[in-house]
Amino acid sequence: MAGRIPETFINDLLGRVDIVDVIGSRVQLKKSGRNHKGLCPFHDEKTPSFNVNEDRQSFHCFGCEAHGTAIGFLMEYDSLTFPEAIETLASMVGMEVPREASRGPKPDTELYDVLQAAARQFQRWLRGDDAAAAVSYLKERGLSGEVARDFGIGLAPAGWDGLKTALASFDEQKLIDAGLLVRQEGGRGRVYDRFRERIVFPIRNTRGRVIGFGGRVYGDGQPKYINSPETEVFRKGRELYGLYEARRARRGLQSVVVVEGYMDVVALAQHGVNNAVATLGTAIGQTHFETLYRHVNLVVCCFDGDDAGRGAAWKAVDAAFPVLSETRQLKFVFLPEGDDPDTIIRNRGQEHFRSLIGGAVPVGEYFLDHLQEGIDLDQADGRALLAELATPHIRRLPSGSLQEVLVNDLAARARIDASVFARSVGATWGPDDDQRSFEGRRRADQQEVGNKRLLHYVVQYPQLMDDLDPNVRAELADPDDASLLADVVRHVAQEPGMDTGTLVGCFVGREGYDVLVALAEEEPVLTKEALAPDLEARARRYVATREGAALTRKARETDTVEDAKRRSDAKAQQVL
Ligand code: GTP
Ligand code: MN
Repeated sequence: MAGRIPETFINDLLGRVDIVDVIGSRVQLKKSGRNHKGLCPFHDEKTPSFNVNEDRQSFHCFGCEAHGTAIGFLMEYDSLTFPEAIETLASMVGMEVPREASRGPKPDTELYDVLQAAARQFQRWLRGDDAAAAVSYLKERGLSGEVARDFGIGLAPAGWDGLKTALASFDEQKLIDAGLLVRQEGGRGRVYDRFRERIVFPIRNTRGRVIGFGGRVYGDGQPKYINSPETEVFRKGRELYGLYEARRARRGLQSVVVVEGYMDVVALAQHGVNNAVATLGTAIGQTHFETLYRHVNLVVCCFDGDDAGRGAAWKAVDAAFPVLSETRQLKFVFLPEGDDPDTIIRNRGQEHFRSLIGGAVPVGEYFLDHLQEGIDLDQADGRALLAELATPHIRRLPSGSLQEVLVNDLAARARIDASVFARSVGATWGPDDDQRSFEGRRRADQQEVGNKRLLHYVVQYPQLMDDLDPNVRAELADPDDASLLADVVRHVAQEPGMDTGTLVGCFVGREGYDVLVALAEEEPVLTKEALAPDLEARARRYVATREGAALTRKARETDTVEDAKRRSDAKAQQVL
């Protein structure tokens, strides 16, 4: 662990940051006298009782009694640890956090030194005598020397040991640990440069330290890009290319545009759009979003209009949902097929690109539109399917107004009464629901229930099973089926006329009890009469595809919205 942060530094830091800026970039505040007022981010309210006091540099909510300094606010709001909150504040005002010596293992600052030295060396080579081909490549792509400098772009020379020789004063093992040199496997274990004859893009963390590199060929050669491997200081799932540069370019950065490639980031900056970031050849994940929302409150994902781009957007929805809120917005732009941000901005200019970003679609709209594709909302079954598909995703949103908006939109599209729907799903995500039971139910969702919807029907109206085709019922109760659904049906089948309470009572102290209670508490979306034919149809489908369903359930643990969608499309086909 790093050493302790000296107290004097914390006082100094608090003297320099303005709590109004810190909170104002995350919560909408209105000035009223020496105070700033807004809706409290820590509890639900309709009229503002959240006050930020500039003189005292503190906040206080008269509704929920939350109060504290900028540090406490960040810890609570951004879910940061104390040192992380300090780091965040320090970087806002351009201060470096000093550490008192500690007895624990020190962070490997030497890795940073090695990486920094390599970045300098690469830059020197780009300015050197053997750089003509690389420089003309960059020029051809429209980059100026100024932007190349801002991004610290460099050149790795041809040959196997340029860097190894240039950095010979460092311990060779450190260079390997930093991902700069590679040790050949087997044989004599020759050690050579990882980046050879490539343009190199240094990847910097938000504090500006070089943590890795991306290297692009500029002549012929494969692969197009080579990236640093993960190291102690370089985690691809966390870092974003361009975030440091964007923050440096613009004080009080409010939004970023997520693009796919290094060249997109650089080309956008070249044309005056200097808030673009890119993941490092990986899909954007939840941790990336957490990082981004620590710095901005609007993220616009700008993907290609092709299948890959749409796939990437769905993954982004999945990754972002748990971290979104009213103040953490997400939007999507899809570019015309065959274009990327680099070609668009070069061919059509900054204004055009900005207008595309301005027309970005909010995540909720995009989410429902996509789920709805191929579903016929004129059919009751189609509407039920839409609700069913959307529900698990909406449930992953933190409760709050974004979730409410989606519930309302969904209810409108599925023609379900919004308040009934909100209440029925409220058992699992409503505002009244406390976090613990929410977590509990989410865990329960992951248990092998068989078919959740079917189970829901059976728990709510066990008597419906009495009228079910006995063959189908026997199939549902198959002793080889270990799911909770089969277990429940076995109970119901033994005792005609069973009611919900008795059924749930049979499961006291047994696995599945919590799930059954939760389902019993949910308000039914359909009446018993309306539900009977659907129950029958679902039961038939379930027993007909049980093997497939079991596989499906397994797949569902790892797959994405896209796969779920594809499956549901297939299901919709059966329905129609
Ligand atoms: P240009 O082709 O020069 O315009 O680069 P780009 O940055 O636009 O690349 P592209 O859109 O083709 O790919 C997006 C990102 O995927 C790149 O920036 C890299 O991070 C990654 N990537 C692309 N090709 C490769 C490759 O061959 N190997 C690896 N490891 N990553 C790649
Ligand atoms: Mn490109």
